[in-house]
Amino acid sequence: MTPDIVVFGSMNMDLVVRVARAPRSGETLHGQSFFTNPGGKGANQAVACARQGARVAMVGCVGDDDFGRTLRNALAADGIATGNVRTVEGTTGVAVVMVDEAGENRITIIPGANDLLKAEPEALAGKYLLLQCEVPMPEVVRAAQFMRAQGATVVLNPAPVCQLPDELWSLVDIIVLNEIEASELAGLPVSDPATAAAAAISIRKRGPSTSIVTLGSQGVLVADEAGCRHFPALAVQVVDTTAAGDTFIGALCAARVAGESMDDAVLRGIQAASVCVTRAGAQSSIPYLDELGAA
Ligand code: ATP
Ligand code: RIB
Repeated sequence: MTPDIVVFGSMNMDLVVRVARAPRSGETLHGQSFFTNPGGKGANQAVACARQGARVAMVGCVGDDDFGRTLRNALAADGIATGNVRTVEGTTGVAVVMVDEAGENRITIIPGANDLLKAEPEALAGKYLLLQCEVPMPEVVRAAQFMRAQGATVVLNPAPVCQLPDELWSLVDIIVLNEIEASELAGLPVSDPATAAAAAISIRKRGPSTSIVTLGSQGVLVADEAGCRHFPALAVQVVDTTAAGDTFIGALCAARVAGESMDDAVLRGIQAASVCVTRAGAQSSIPYLDELGAA
């Protein structure tokens, strides 16, 4: 069966350390806890879409190792089609995630198998294509070309931030960025809804018809053909913000394929992300549809 949403992206095992604060250069500190958890922006967004009711297929690469098998099984457990998750030579991608007392994270990724992902036309069919920047950029462009040519809606989360090739801009329908990404790509400082609006308007001029800036506890700014709107975040007790952006994007896309308006889809994304930040980890923190409103 053709999926609603194809996610073409990364799969990482997150190695998570909780600390009171990040150590300074040359300093050694005792941390508070350590755990492993399935992550990767691509896989997290696939899980967020699936837990919000969408039919999802993942296109990704893992190594022939225990982390790879765990990541594949985690997706399958959420009903995500994994037939196009390839097992390749080399190690599965990992992310070293340091989470401080405020729930903020610092992440270093070692891409491993993610660097071997290829855009194969037979794996790319669906209503929506969801892309990030943790896999090779030429393949991201090719995936967008294939699915745009079929009439799919292309959604890009340009994270981790990088300069995007010119040809990609015109292939993207919806771009979702955080403050750092919006600031870098627009070349404007972004710190609040007003500056996010300026960046979102500027980014829209490069191609995407909808430009969405997430602002952490300050909510979300949307710029589209109807103008700019700001949506506040929900007030919650933050434990760990890892995958908040991924959860927002997945819930937004699931709501759109279910026929919701852009504004309702943004509200669903905010609700889902507000639950995510109250829990530890990446995929472990992403809520199911029946958990929304529980934050
Ligand atoms: P991450 O990289 O940590 O996954 P991000 O930087 O991509 O996240 P953010 O803008 O931090 O994305 O967060 C996405 C959404 O999650 C926000 O728009 C908001 O709805 C929700 N969110 C994030 N942080 C908070 C917070 N402290 N309180 C309430 N909601 C939050
Ligand atoms: O967005 C959060 C994700 O970024 C983590 O799960 C980590 O794997 C990195 O890809």
